Amino acid sequence: MDLTLTIIKPDAVAAGHVGRILALLEEKGFRIRALRLMHLTEPQAREFYAVHRERPFYASLVKFMTSGPCIPAVLQKPGAVAALREAIGATDPAEAAPGTVRALYAESKERNAIHASDSDANAVREAGFFFAESDVLAAE
Ligand code: CMP
Repeated sequence: MDLTLTIIKPDAVAAGHVGRILALLEEKGFRIRALRLMHLTEPQAREFYAVHRERPFYASLVKFMTSGPCIPAVLQKPGAVAALREAIGATDPAEAAPGTVRALYAESKERNAIHASDSDANAVREAGFFFAESDVLAAE
């Protein structure tokens, strides 16, 4: 599959890194197929991260993700899921490879600037969480 879902998180939006992050991703060959600016509600954040609900950081993660606006987007590139995970780097910015989004812009393991789907199945689920099928533009 050539689509994946990203979220530029509230820390990166608040810090004014949106343009630089989108530019970096475009330079790496990703094309934007859908994009919106929104402020997640608590129920939305709880649902999106439901897979982590037993983890000790769940409540803090929900609080962070609802702390300000974020930018979900559908990105396209061959092998999009793996390519985006490589481009954003490890969850912990201290372990993220140089030049990755998280090495450049993440503050911590939680406030880590950006999300990327971890599988094709989750990319479909997560894109559907934020966008209607008609919002996702077809490839040029
Ligand atoms: P993300 O890729 O969006 O997926 C789950 C998120 O939980 C992750 O990015 C981080 O924001 C957060 N997270 C993961 N592990 C930890 C941790 N050990 N402590 C705090 N937050 C974490």
